[in-house]
Amino acid sequence: SDNQESGSDYRKGVKFLIDNEPDMKKLPSEFALPLLRNPLSAVHAEIPVIDLSGLHGPVQRRVSTIRDINSACADWGFFRIINHGIRTSLMVEMLKVVEEFFDLSWEQKMKYASDNVMSPIRYGTSLNTSMKHSLHWRDYFRHYGHPCHKTFHLWPDNPPVYRDVAKEYLEQIWQLAMKIASAISEGLGLDHDYIEKSLGEGFQVQAANYYPPCPEPEKTLGLAGHSDHGGLTILMQNHDVDGLQIKHNETWTAVQHVPGTFLVNIGDYLEILSNGMYKSVEHRAVVNAQKKRISVAVGHGPELTAVIAPASQLLDKNSDIQYRPIAYQDYIRLQQSSTIRGKSPLQAIK
Ligand code: SIN
Ligand code: FE2
Repeated sequence: SDNQESGSDYRKGVKFLIDNEPDMKKLPSEFALPLLRNPLSAVHAEIPVIDLSGLHGPVQRRVSTIRDINSACADWGFFRIINHGIRTSLMVEMLKVVEEFFDLSWEQKMKYASDNVMSPIRYGTSLNTSMKHSLHWRDYFRHYGHPCHKTFHLWPDNPPVYRDVAKEYLEQIWQLAMKIASAISEGLGLDHDYIEKSLGEGFQVQAANYYPPCPEPEKTLGLAGHSDHGGLTILMQNHDVDGLQIKHNETWTAVQHVPGTFLVNIGDYLEILSNGMYKSVEHRAVVNAQKKRISVAVGHGPELTAVIAPASQLLDKNSDIQYRPIAYQDYIRLQQSSTIRGKSPLQAIK
């Protein structure tokens, strides 16, 4: 039947759908989100900008940079970093190999499809393909990073330079995340290596998102509101279209894209570790009718078997422990299989 036809097309991804019908005028009804208020009418806001070179400056400057990072974490949970030390050419190359991967045929990409949310490599579409309702306008591709040698052999070998570019990118992003983690540790009054040590071997996952141009973008989303399960996410995107929105003071707020910069956000792991002092902020992606948007989000958290819980140093006699201890991998499973979005997985361990 028609239904089955279109059902299997959706499984092939939204890029496949739009490549086959570039002049599509109407959004297929499965993508229309019933309770959505036009997401394109969101207000814009300037999020804090942190000049990371301040961490290597004279002591006064270092101290004020750490203070700025910590107020950004407490007030926004999101900030933009400049002078971050990652070459623009590496950012561009990374986006290029990711785009070339998405440009592969559907069959080639489907080699990486998996229903297992813990799979070290995974290609898919929408949010939850087993649910026919509420599809989202996104294809994604994700794989583990640090420690790269463990899964390198599983990463795509097409485009041929993919593995080498991704390895260099992910290793540099790991170092960057640890530098920020160290500033956050100090700002919280912990030893500078507290967060890094809490990660054990550590866990890094790269999620690349592809949002093709969308007919009727006001009726759907690329990615529904969620918070990230890890500690810090470092996010970049391609050239000239905005799409990220964050929930700030209960209001969906559009964040402008500034080329050459990264956005950094607090995830659930740091909300838990800080016993709620820092909030992992809900965010989502909107789509647009004109241009494809590609984003690469890299999450950083503890090794999968680590038990995550508030840092005991941050608890005094007067503060209650806000979250129940849980193994990080169990938390990821909870978060990834939850059909209710937003911050519900965190509520579940309160
Ligand atoms: C994400 O939350 O993983 C990505 C958001 C975006 O596309 O900007
Ligand atoms: Fe996210």
